[in-house]
Amino acid sequence: MLRRLHKEQPASFEFTPKNLEWAQGQISKYPEGRQASAVIPLLWRAQEQHGWLTRPAIEYVANMLGMAYIRALEVATFYFMFQLQPVGSIAHIQICGTTSCMICGAEELIAVCKELIAPAAHQLSADGKFSWEEVECMGACANAPMAQIGKDYYEDLTADKLRDLIARFSKGEVPTPGPQNGRYAAEPLSGLTSLKEFESGKQAYNGTVQIAKNVGDTVKKIDGTEVPILTPWLKKSPVSAEAVADVAEEVVEGTAPEQLKEARGGVADDLKEIEGIGPAMEKLLNSLGFFHFDQIASWTDAEIAWVDQNMKSFKGRIIRDKWVAQAKLIVSEGLEAFRVRAKTNDY
Ligand code: FES
Repeated sequence: MLRRLHKEQPASFEFTPKNLEWAQGQISKYPEGRQASAVIPLLWRAQEQHGWLTRPAIEYVANMLGMAYIRALEVATFYFMFQLQPVGSIAHIQICGTTSCMICGAEELIAVCKELIAPAAHQLSADGKFSWEEVECMGACANAPMAQIGKDYYEDLTADKLRDLIARFSKGEVPTPGPQNGRYAAEPLSGLTSLKEFESGKQAYNGTVQIAKNVGDTVKKIDGTEVPILTPWLKKSPVSAEAVADVAEEVVEGTAPEQLKEARGGVADDLKEIEGIGPAMEKLLNSLGFFHFDQIASWTDAEIAWVDQNMKSFKGRIIRDKWVAQAKLIVSEGLEAFRVRAKTNDY
């Protein structure tokens, strides 16, 4: 299947403050220079926040991780879990069409989706509330046929059950996930044949369904406030709102380099020539008064510390990507020579 970016894109994307904090926690799991390893969780979080993965979101994540846009785009277009087009405002319904589910009635479920949502996969319903697609086995074959609606599994479905679920979601309800035919989990439909001694002590729902009910995010967009942000490896778990505010009011260390009100002669250098600086970072640098390679080339350690404090979600990049060394090369040898050396990170 050809996976392309949608033709209509929003103007911008940024994480909510809590999702940004979460993302920074994820990035901190990886050693210096390996931050790109966080690309999948960050893209996923962006999708959870917005509903689908937009081009600005992919670029935003690439900027956060110091990756070329094309590298993040490769990941986003490779994995089918990333939705590259708008999905239903209430839910995106994924019908499993693999062997067990197909034998047990997946085609009837797909027919319901075509009738109630849209004639083709990845199209929005007329009211914009739903979209659907057929997916490969989701590992719930013992409860076939099944569908993932939002983030949870609805199992042991029939066409009528699916109709009913769509109607209830449409009204704003969130039906209990799990088996829809009265089964507790994946036991035989005729009842337990073993482990009967555990029958009397069981909870109202099986573990997965109970967790889904407790978390309550079946069709919720994730803004980061849902659960405490756990970063025990940073020795501050969970991060409180006060701690976040403290960070925001942190005293800026270092010495401010000379800043310009505007580019000399009204023409700024293309700072994106420096490996690791993308459009968002360039914009931020310009807003801080840095427009030229020679400005960056002259930064001292104290000045680097000051600029780094102001780099928001891009902290640590100046040293990691050797901006000063790169800028010095551009100033001393010119752009053409620098580009040749940049191909092998020779700076
Ligand atoms: S075949 Fe449908 S979940 Fe495995």
